[in-house]
Amino acid sequence: MSRKPLIAGNWKMNNSISKTRDFFDEFLKKPLDQGVDIVICPPFTAILAAAEEIKGHDNVHLGAQNMHWEDKGAYTGEISPVMLREIPCDYVIIGHSERRQYFAETDEMVNKKVKAALKHNLIPIVCVGETLEQREQGITMSWVISQVEKALEGVDEKQLKSIVFAYEPIWAIGTGKTASDDDAQQVISGIRNKIGEFSNAEIAGNVRILYGGSVKPGNIEGLIKKPDIDGALVGGASLDAESFFSIISLSRK
Ligand code: 13P
Repeated sequence: MSRKPLIAGNWKMNNSISKTRDFFDEFLKKPLDQGVDIVICPPFTAILAAAEEIKGHDNVHLGAQNMHWEDKGAYTGEISPVMLREIPCDYVIIGHSERRQYFAETDEMVNKKVKAALKHNLIPIVCVGETLEQREQGITMSWVISQVEKALEGVDEKQLKSIVFAYEPIWAIGTGKTASDDDAQQVISGIRNKIGEFSNAEIAGNVRILYGGSVKPGNIEGLIKKPDIDGALVGGASLDAESFFSIISLSRK
């Protein structure tokens, strides 16, 4: 079972158009052919500039940080999957904990977005993860598994292999604390088992599952060595071309 590592940068609400161009000026000079899929998710205003910059770099892909599930309509402030495909964006982050926490995104909305992404050939990066309180209560696994189940409700098992999951413990995001390599591996292998129950061992063995939460060049090597961890969803360290490239080059399996 060989899964190509994937490193995705979630820029969140950072980087103007000019900063985006500066980032790519530096980043695209690096030897990016490392056998790792690279995804960068800029804010919406900078995606077109990013698309221009990456032309001709086939292993660098673009992702959105969110989208609506409808194709079009009266949804002020929202962006549709059709609009993302036109750019073209290949990936979309869905259900990030910051969207769940600050923008009241529910499991039901996450599920609609997953189905809409698949319908439009966008690869959803579905985020799940527990709070510190839930971890301390010992309910991490059941919570994460229930998020996975709800995200996948009504999804055709054949489409499962196009989905990427990201396990991001909320307490590890932007805090400098990471889950230990073993803890991350344990939850991620639990997610893989659940996907196997939804489909079969072959599909579960092909689905890529990332870890996210304070990933840096200094901790990626331990994480990527774990058998079920296929890469990372990187926040802060993806804003700097040098550190993002280091994470990529240390992620070869
Ligand atoms: P940090 O890497 O800044 O902790 O952010 C992780 C994250 O939320 C990626 O989606």
